Amino acid sequence: MLLDEKLFDKFGVEYEPNDIIFCEFEPGNDFYFIQSGRVEIVKIINNREKTLDILGPGDVFGEMAILEEEPRSASAIAIEHVKLLRFRRENFDALLQGNPQLAYKLLVIFSKRIYDAKRRLMILLLDDPQLKVMDVMNMLAEQDPHLDVQEPVTLRVTVQEIANWAGMQINDVQKILTHLNKLGKIELFNDRVVVRNIRDFQRLVNSRRKSMYA
Ligand code: CMP
Repeated sequence: MLLDEKLFDKFGVEYEPNDIIFCEFEPGNDFYFIQSGRVEIVKIINNREKTLDILGPGDVFGEMAILEEEPRSASAIAIEHVKLLRFRRENFDALLQGNPQLAYKLLVIFSKRIYDAKRRLMILLLDDPQLKVMDVMNMLAEQDPHLDVQEPVTLRVTVQEIANWAGMQINDVQKILTHLNKLGKIELFNDRVVVRNIRDFQRLVNSRRKSMYA
């Protein structure tokens, strides 16, 4: 992102590995742009810490508390040495007006977050555990730009991650994946799942959705 250096002099902050940038549930008045390094976004779900995302240079975080006037929805922790631009709530309007590039970037990030949130909700609303698991695979495949030409589809995902997306227990997800493996619909590895025919999964999920909302 082309932000001039003066901006870093004025708004730059740095963190060391494992530093907590802010905690979930705190009131939030600042939002951040990552200049360098990676930041982990962590949330407590069912008394367990879950990684929501790992963000890197060019990413923005901490904007939700400002836009929604709510406490922090998750904690932010520096994974390595991190350089950030920290802006206060009051700077938000001025910054956007003075930096169309920035405004555009924010717009892209927000619309993607809204889309992602809606997509995840669609998975959670499915009433059949097997279809939930399939739809997680559909969602991950949708993020692959080569989906149209590439079959079978390789998804870099663990069973635990699928369980997180589906809002299910890992054991239940494991059973479903083992079953799909036996049927020859997927191949299951420690760090990935290969889906033989993703269109099949899309068709099944879509037809259930249609019947749920008919
Ligand atoms: P905020 O709620 O202010 O503080 C936590 C931040 O984590 C939040 O703003 C977003 O910037 C970011 N965040 C929350 N949920 C997600 C998510 N699912 N994926 C990526 N980033 C998120």
